[in-house]
Amino acid sequence: MGGAAARAVLLLAAAVAALVGGASAQLSEEFYDRTCPDVHRIVRRVLKKAHQDDPRIFASLTRLHFHDCFVQGCDASILLDNSTSIVSEKFARPNNNSARGYPVVDAVKAALEEACPGVVSCADILAIAAKISVELSGGPRWRVPLGRRDGTTANLTAANNLPGPRDNLTTLQQKFAAVGLDVVTDLVALSGAHTFGRVQCQFVTDRLYNFSGTGRPDPTLDAGYRAQLAKSCPRRGGNRRTALNDLDPTTPDAFDKNYFVNIVSTAASSSPTRSYCPLPARPRRRPSTASPSARRPSSRASRAPWPTWGTSSF
Ligand code: HEM
Repeated sequence: MGGAAARAVLLLAAAVAALVGGASAQLSEEFYDRTCPDVHRIVRRVLKKAHQDDPRIFASLTRLHFHDCFVQGCDASILLDNSTSIVSEKFARPNNNSARGYPVVDAVKAALEEACPGVVSCADILAIAAKISVELSGGPRWRVPLGRRDGTTANLTAANNLPGPRDNLTTLQQKFAAVGLDVVTDLVALSGAHTFGRVQCQFVTDRLYNFSGTGRPDPTLDAGYRAQLAKSCPRRGGNRRTALNDLDPTTPDAFDKNYFVNIVSTAASSSPTRSYCPLPARPRRRPSTASPSARRPSSRASRAPWPTWGTSSF
């Protein structure tokens, strides 16, 4: 692991630890030690089972935690359904037909209710699920202080204002600053979470066919990579919502440094006006043709040199 990319991945872990740090004073790692001592084991068991059928689930749960925390703090408000008093965040533009993993969170909650009824908050479940998802994908570890309370209100307006793929750098920085995040280190480091997971064609087509309104592709996209994306996301036809692309084509389901490596490997030749869309500019090497199961990160996980890192106060 070298230089800038390695530092950036470690920063990612630190930034996760920093996000929404204000509430940390009341939280503690031992919060459930007496009331639900197996909480981590139970979450891990349910997540591992879900992963057997859905290799993308760890990325989805990580994003769910981010989309929860960015809107009135980490209070599980993203999980609230429509009711007479709630307008659900699930249908906000950045979440609708995009945020996923809700049934797995329900399954975790059900397993925890069986073991220790009425004890573990959904906000803590999201925080633990994100941490375990990153770990099981071969990424760094961090400690998660617990004891978050679940919110009873949702905020659709704030959810609609989550960072978006068409936001420019200034807007992204404003949005990060508004929740107390550093506009350089946290923005860069947390963007590294796009080292795993998928992106729908609707968020890619501008880069393929009309970059910054030019009517041409993003010039920083590697030609081979662009051809591959164009196959999955044709200019006309195709399904822009259901056709999915790996955010990191080199190791799609591993939490590693390749999001940054892909960017760094392009930096020398790329335009400084590159968009901040999560799609990296160029894979370090050609995407693997191996089957999805062969690309799972378990073997990489044992090789990953991540230290136990930081303390999340999400
Ligand atoms: C910096 C601003 C960000 C923007 C503009 C952004 C945008 C996006 C977009 C457009 C997608 C694809 C969604 C889809 O196709 O349905 C995505 C996926 C994803 N994002 Fe972000 N994101 C940002 C920050 C973050 C952060 C801070 C995290 C976590 C720490 C994160 C984690 C993820 C993950 C893991 C996925 C893949 C999810 C899946 O496969 O289900 N993103 N992001």
